[in-house]
Amino acid sequence: MATLAGRLEALTLRALEQIVGDSEGLSAQIAPTRDEKHGDYQCNAALGLARRLGRNPRELSGELAQAMLALDETGLLRTAEVAGPGFLNLRVREEALKAALKGIGDPVRSAGRRVVVDYSSPNIAKQMHVGHLRSSIIGDAICRILEHLGHEVKRQNHVGDWGTQFGLLCAWLLDRGVEDSRVDLGDLEALYREAQALAERDEAFRERSRERVVALHQGDQPTRETWRRIVGTSLEHIGEVYERLGLSLTLADTRGESFYNPMLAGVVEELQVRFPAGSRPMEVVEDQGAVCVFLYDEEGQPRFKNAQGEPQPLLVRKSDGAFLYPTTDLAALRYRVRDLEADWLIYVTDSRQALHFQMFFQTAREAGWVGESLLEHVTFGTVLGPDGKPLKTRSGENVKLAELLGEAVERADRLVEDNESDPARKRGFSADEKRDIAEAVGIGAVKYADLSQNRSSDYVFSFDRMLAMEGNTAPYLMYAYARIRSIQRRAGELPHEPALTLEEAHERRLAMHLARLDETLDQVVSGWRLNLLCEYLYGLAGLFMKFYENCPVLGAPTPEQRASRLDLCEKAARVLKVGLELLGIRVVERM
Ligand code: ARG
Repeated sequence: MATLAGRLEALTLRALEQIVGDSEGLSAQIAPTRDEKHGDYQCNAALGLARRLGRNPRELSGELAQAMLALDETGLLRTAEVAGPGFLNLRVREEALKAALKGIGDPVRSAGRRVVVDYSSPNIAKQMHVGHLRSSIIGDAICRILEHLGHEVKRQNHVGDWGTQFGLLCAWLLDRGVEDSRVDLGDLEALYREAQALAERDEAFRERSRERVVALHQGDQPTRETWRRIVGTSLEHIGEVYERLGLSLTLADTRGESFYNPMLAGVVEELQVRFPAGSRPMEVVEDQGAVCVFLYDEEGQPRFKNAQGEPQPLLVRKSDGAFLYPTTDLAALRYRVRDLEADWLIYVTDSRQALHFQMFFQTAREAGWVGESLLEHVTFGTVLGPDGKPLKTRSGENVKLAELLGEAVERADRLVEDNESDPARKRGFSADEKRDIAEAVGIGAVKYADLSQNRSSDYVFSFDRMLAMEGNTAPYLMYAYARIRSIQRRAGELPHEPALTLEEAHERRLAMHLARLDETLDQVVSGWRLNLLCEYLYGLAGLFMKFYENCPVLGAPTPEQRASRLDLCEKAARVLKVGLELLGIRVVERM
């Protein structure tokens, strides 16, 4: 069912159309009011429209109110009142609010799109580090929300499993005849460093690695075998991190760069044939074997320029014939639209790749490979250490993801133990329960701390802050959830879909907030502002606490009120659980 905001919007548009006699350029401009004293929603449509029509905004607003009330066959509105310079304050009828709460938190059934979400995408043969954390966490939340909203999601892990570094690794391993031994990932990383160092001082080894790259491309058996082993071992390690993080991404979603290798020559050739030098708005120029794509805007000016103001090309083939990161991305995009039949492509990487995405998106558009599909590059900032610089270990190395998650859980474990050793707070958890809570809280805290930020900002990583029991944190929300469950347990049998009575202001406020879950998700999706969902949940936990302090639940004055309040508890718990799960955070029933 449509959200309250959605229904108000539709009603406003119909009323506006009736007044203006035309639907062109009309917008309803519905938003929740800041202060509930003024109503539930505010409509700002009359202000701009009055200017356009040269009319008095308050008068137009009054006319709009009349038209809305007259057109409101479904009984949505209780009042529509003109306020201030000419906006409208709207109050929703109790029955409409109650109806909006039916099935709250259920997945939305709609004819959705088929969406490819490219996220996590670490590089093989290297440990995943904190830089991959944000892509994994943000991308996973995006997938879950899309699925909740009725879209079909195809997760794609575009791992870096191809390129010259594999020449180095294969050459090193094959030189030593270790093709039969199991490669350990810890070793593999050190090994890569060693191979790099060797390549720097040993010309013959450099040559052998170059030959291995060629051999790998040509499908040479021993080289392929070694490469496969490197990739396999690396993916195993990555899979363990995914599992600990509780990602919905699995190894089956891996479609690495190597997959597109057979398509790259064709991509470059097609571009060269269809867009020869001199074509506009895209031309493909070959210079000593290197192939460059130049893009122009409507005025024929270069679309992309470098720091010196010169036209900046997208390089799709190097002079030695090697293909590059953009070539693979062009092939992958075409594959996703054409073969996976996706009509929405989402890529999650840090913002430093913004130019790469703009350029290959534009190239694909000009080539006609995008069609009607939506392309979205979802970027994010850097995770910083306490010194405000990108997070590193004390010795200056990248922080390893597995270690970071381990520490979060360890710290959460200490919190649980502290509580348990305090007689006033002791809950008597078993060892298993304690471990489970610590795992959920530790991992949840890391994820929530990331998702509750404005995505584009850098943020300072702080265990203390993310594990705090107060404030906008995962432990606070998880605790709020567990607390509601404990109230329900004390209540014994729960009422089945009782009639809601929303007489107290705290009850109505909580109910209105609950009803806004789906419209919050609509806002989240436009621009992928995941922090809005966090704010919504934080607001919900706060409103619930206020409600609980002011409206006795188990000791409610009448059985009807008790049943109604218990139902509000159930709905609040459900929305907290669903909301946190959409963010990829697992709740626990007791905490
Ligand atoms: N492997 C790349 C990196 O670590 C990220 C790939 C993102 N996806 C893509 N289709 N380019 O930087």
